[in-house]
Amino acid sequence: MTDTTPATTAPFNTIDAVVQALEGAAYYADRRLATAVFLALKLQRPLLLEGEPGVGKTELAKALASALQRELLRLQCYDGLEQREALYEWNYAAQLLHMRAAEAHGASSDVESEVYQPRYLIRRPLLQALQAPAPGAVLLIDEVDRADEPFEAFLLEYLGEYQVSIPELGTVRALVPPVTILTSNRTRELNDAVKRRCLYHWLDYPERERELAIVRAQVPKAGEVLSEQVAAFVARLRSAPFASAFQRAPGIAESVEWARALIALDTVELDPEIVVDTAGILFKQRDDVAALTHELASELLKPSEEEQA
Ligand SMILES: Nc1ncnc2c1ncn2[C@@H]1O[C@H](COP(=O)(O)OP(=O)(O)OP(=O)(O)O)[C@@H](O)[C@H]1O
Ligand SMILES: [Mg+2]
Repeated sequence: MTDTTPATTAPFNTIDAVVQALEGAAYYADRRLATAVFLALKLQRPLLLEGEPGVGKTELAKALASALQRELLRLQCYDGLEQREALYEWNYAAQLLHMRAAEAHGASSDVESEVYQPRYLIRRPLLQALQAPAPGAVLLIDEVDRADEPFEAFLLEYLGEYQVSIPELGTVRALVPPVTILTSNRTRELNDAVKRRCLYHWLDYPERERELAIVRAQVPKAGEVLSEQVAAFVARLRSAPFASAFQRAPGIAESVEWARALIALDTVELDPEIVVDTAGILFKQRDDVAALTHELASELLKPSEEEQA
């Protein structure tokens, strides 16, 4: 099999350059994620990001598009998503008008082929991404686990070869392979064949320092003490033995929102009362909100052993 992928130069020479470019787009990636992005770009392979909600999967695609100065094309997946919403559909109304006009002028015998021209094609994100002019687009296929299995099967040709077949027009190949990011919350296991065509990265909760950098960047109004307390509190809450008290740990999105809420409440420093009163921002499940008691909040606010040392 010959490699038909058009050659393009990779936009970053080093992994550090990826980290820095993403940081310039206000996205803080650790080295493992930056390595995955670097390789996806270099090898021109789709990148599948899996992880808990709110850990920055969707945001990575947005930040990467901004860092690369490429257009972001987004396909939001859901149960029942069909090819015509993802790839293309024919503009029936315009085709009909064409046929009527042709009839009125004494139709040529070739009306049928005339209506199947690219100009009657309504392009959806997957096709737009193939036809984006240089330097190409960033394509986000978001929450692919929500789409059904036939849709996943349809994605195979696309992800493997950056091409699709349109019966009336033939095969459409990418002008420039789109930088493709797929995300999944793992509500179901994806098809092995899809996974095999992608590089895989499990996006975990960030370590404390990185979360602190994100809070600082996104909530500059939060003072240093509060930002550090938020990052430390959430990090402890996600770690043993505390994590087991909750069904779902807060994501980065929740930490950022919490910092904003605390500012709105003129909080300078955390205390157990304010933690309990704002628990609905960290947790979105009733049992989890209830589990964050005054007692547990006090425990979580105590300096950890390493901080005491
Ligand atoms: N590494 C990061 N750097 C900067 N901001 C981040 C980072 N990760 C997450 N965020 C912030 O968290 C918010 C939520 O992230 P995002 O929407 O990407 O999560 P997600 O993993 O796609 O979640 P879901 O599975 O619910 O869709 C973003 O809007 C952004 O503000
Ligand atoms: Mg998302």
